[in-house]
Amino acid sequence: MDPVRNPFAPGAGQRPPELAGRDREVAAFEVVLERVARGRPERSLVLTGLRGVGKTVLLGELRAMAVRRGWGAGKVEARPDAGLRRPLAAALHRAIRDLAVRHRAPDRVESVLGVLKAFALRANPAGAKLRDRWQPGIDVPAATGRADSGDIEIDLVELFTDVAELAQDVGTGVALLIDEMQDVQPDDVSALCAACHELSQSGAPLVVVGAGLPHVPTVLSASKSYSERLFRYVRIDRLERADAERAMLAPIKREDASITEDALEALYETSGGYPYFVQAYGKAAWDAAPGDPITVEDVRVAAPEAEAELAVGFFGSRYERATPAEREYLRAMADLSEGRDEAVPTAAVADRLGRKPSSLSPARDSLIKKGLVYSAERGRIAFTVPHFGRFLLGRDD
Ligand SMILES: Nc1ncnc2c1ncn2[C@@H]1O[C@H](COP(=O)(O)OP(=O)(O)OP(=O)(O)O)[C@@H](O)[C@H]1O
Ligand SMILES: [Mg+2]
Repeated sequence: MDPVRNPFAPGAGQRPPELAGRDREVAAFEVVLERVARGRPERSLVLTGLRGVGKTVLLGELRAMAVRRGWGAGKVEARPDAGLRRPLAAALHRAIRDLAVRHRAPDRVESVLGVLKAFALRANPAGAKLRDRWQPGIDVPAATGRADSGDIEIDLVELFTDVAELAQDVGTGVALLIDEMQDVQPDDVSALCAACHELSQSGAPLVVVGAGLPHVPTVLSASKSYSERLFRYVRIDRLERADAERAMLAPIKREDASITEDALEALYETSGGYPYFVQAYGKAAWDAAPGDPITVEDVRVAAPEAEAELAVGFFGSRYERATPAEREYLRAMADLSEGRDEAVPTAAVADRLGRKPSSLSPARDSLIKKGLVYSAERGRIAFTVPHFGRFLLGRDD
């Protein structure tokens, strides 16, 4: 059918034509927003799940919900080996600009911007030459004596407090969204936890919403033991049958097209209900169909096409990041799990490769750092990418 009208949207962070199966999370966040705005104690939400299940998309939806209520909102994507100060400053700058539109006292807004600038300038290493110094694009003079101590924990508490007060002036709040939360560095995790703790105690209307891989809870509790009490972890998973059907059917119907019952079933089977795969196989089936409706035959014809695209865009781009030694490790995991998405014992991986477990620690740690695998439970390891084992077994090298 007409590729121009193809509604499906495979791609990282791509807004799906139909956000299916996330009503529970959306409803929970409604409650969070309402409670936080009223100064009630509330735990922050952290979405966890495998690659491609729709964490980034959902985070974007939660952000939109906050903005619709007149909140200030900003988003950060954490990166390994990079501090949070700069991206955090940019995200809060965004949030302050949202709030400024509704604020009646420009001088109050300016003074908070001054504190933000002071906070941001601290991202420059002490003694950096003027021409090497990074300049945040904030159009006010930097304040002094607030959020600029250089101790990220102290600075965050002060900055969050000031930004939250600005929101309080206009009767709303601030939502700070942090994607790829497993990549936040230990010092920054500690500081974030401490700041969230402090703010929730004072009833300030600021909420941190995170998203990341399944081991985020372990990463956070390693830095601050009380993180369990600060965050409510919500597991985002593949779509159930009815939701997956809605994700495919609703966009097709909106284009005045149709799909047969068995084609829908075949799409569910091949995609396993994983949102990324739902989009990828749905898109290919639409393009392969010579006419309306999309049939099971079209789905069959389209599958290799979809798989070829996934092999490059979804699996390949990640596989490329692994060194030869790491690829061996991944391959052994795939062999052991026989292509199913299951955790395997790290000792069995070592056994399979005929190596001592300790000698494989560097490869494993590096794969964790690259976000390709995670430690599901002590002594076991799993792929963060669904169907990754199957993909590896299908390669000839
Ligand atoms: N609820 C949903 N219903 C249908 N499609 C969805 C849904 N959520 C996400 N998708 C689709 O799934 C794909 C992946 O979404 P997204 O990038 O948000 O995943 P992610 O969990 O952030 O992945 P990663 O861990 O790689 O960052 C996108 O193509 C998006 O359109
Ligand atoms: Mg994402």
